[in-house]
Amino acid sequence: MAKKSTSDSQKAPAGGKPSSLVDTRIIYCGDNLEQLKKLPDGCVDLIYIDPPFNSNRNYEVFWGETKEKRSFEDRHASTQAYIDFMRPRCVELHRVLKKTGSFYYHCDWHASHYVKIMLDQIFGQNQFQNEIICTLHTEC
Ligand SMILES: C[S@@+](CC[C@H](N)C(=O)[O-])C[C@H]1O[C@@H](n2cnc3c(N)ncnc32)[C@H](O)[C@@H]1O
Repeated sequence: MAKKSTSDSQKAPAGGKPSSLVDTRIIYCGDNLEQLKKLPDGCVDLIYIDPPFNSNRNYEVFWGETKEKRSFEDRHASTQAYIDFMRPRCVELHRVLKKTGSFYYHCDWHASHYVKIMLDQIFGQNQFQNEIICTLHTEC
C-alpha cells in the first residue's frame, strides 16, 4: 500500500484555503448569532462552545501584562430566559455543523438538564453521545 508523503497530506488545497467551504483564516468577532449567519450550511467539522452557564454571577478579570479589564454578565431573568438566549444560537450551530460533525457544549449544573432537552430538540434525541464530567473541586 502506498503511503502519502507528509508534504502531500499537509498541502493546502488550491487557493490556499484549508477548507473549500469556509475561510478558516478569518476570526469573526461580535455576537455569535450574527456572525454564524455569515457561514454556509454544513461547513464545520467540530464545534466547542464555552458560553455563559446561567450561574447568576458577573465575571471580571484583569488580563495579561496590560491588565486589560475583561468582563461578562452571566445573569438571566430565569433559566427559561437563558435557554431562550441560547436556543437560536444552537439552531445556527446545528445548521453550520456537518452531518458527520461533533458538537461539545460546556456547561455546569445550573442549566445542564435544560440544555440537554434543548439540544435534543434541535439535534435530535438520538444524536446525544455522552457527557464529560469534570470532578475538580475548584472551578473548571
Ligand atoms: C464562560 S465565558 C468563556 C470564557 C472563555 N472560554 C475563556 O476561557 O476565556 C463565556 C463567554 O461568552 C461570551 N459571550 C456571551 N454572549 C456572547 C455572544 N452573544 N456572542 C459571543 N460571545 C458571547 C462572554 O463574553 C464570555 O467571554
